[in-house]
Amino acid sequence: MSEQGYFTEGNSAEVVISRNAEAKDARLAEVMAVITRHLHAAVKEIEPSQDEWMQAIRFLTATGHKSDDWRQEFILLSDVLGVSMLVDAINNRKPSGASESTVLGPFHVDGAPELPMGANICLDGKGEPMQVQGRILSTDGQPIAGAVIDVWQTNDDGFYDVQQKGIQPDFNLRGVFRTGADGRYHFWGAKPRFYPIPDDGPVGQLLVALGRHPYWPAHLHYIVKADGFAPLVTHIFDPDDDYIQSDAVFGVKESLMAKFHHVTDTDRIAAAGQPGPFYDVTHDFVLAPVG
Ligand code: BEZ
Ligand code: FE
Repeated sequence: MSEQGYFTEGNSAEVVISRNAEAKDARLAEVMAVITRHLHAAVKEIEPSQDEWMQAIRFLTATGHKSDDWRQEFILLSDVLGVSMLVDAINNRKPSGASESTVLGPFHVDGAPELPMGANICLDGKGEPMQVQGRILSTDGQPIAGAVIDVWQTNDDGFYDVQQKGIQPDFNLRGVFRTGADGRYHFWGAKPRFYPIPDDGPVGQLLVALGRHPYWPAHLHYIVKADGFAPLVTHIFDPDDDYIQSDAVFGVKESLMAKFHHVTDTDRIAAAGQPGPFYDVTHDFVLAPVG
């Protein structure tokens, strides 16, 4: 018997923690001790009825049943609880001046084509054209040559290509670009739209029950990598989006707002070789040195 004696309501957490005393993995023992302490404290504060506890078990069971190789309902749960962004923040503390990170999200795919600067990644021709450009810089303001930029975004209907296989062309609105000596990147896409995180499962039902919406404001995703620098996984957001103040997964950051300028001036339209008005977005990314 442990020093704490038999399990009681009062000593519950310490009895469970002491039962794990022989754990081989010290980190596992530490993690389980913290989780046990906080979980028991939460249960003592909530005092759930047996029915409420079963409801929680049913919710987690449904979350597991909804998950497969493609759909990860537990990550969505972590997202809407703010835990994904918290883990991201803890693991990506940046030096002053470096671009902030966000979550990868479920819609990145490896193997997008590497394209020349200025290429158009919008293969379905939908939506309003959008020019995106900027520089990849180090924290001392120098351009980074050879940086690899992987971008992906939704189409004008608010879906990624992988959500509409057979409807959108493969690799629609995805591309990989490599900077030259000036550190500049430049491509054309289509103005993205806000869209819901996948909400046809238990996490979507939870949001409804909590009076929350499932929307992410319009954004573009980036992964930026360069030798000698920490990889950056991030988004840029449209500050004029209806959901910019209340995104479902807590990913929006002030420093990641990028103005989406609507260009209607006929000279600029002609100079850009566009048939009509387009959006113009400029955003620089600053990479932190490794370590
Ligand atoms: C996204 O940015 O695509 C995303 C991020 C988290 C959850 C769902 C979607
Ligand atoms: Fe997204």
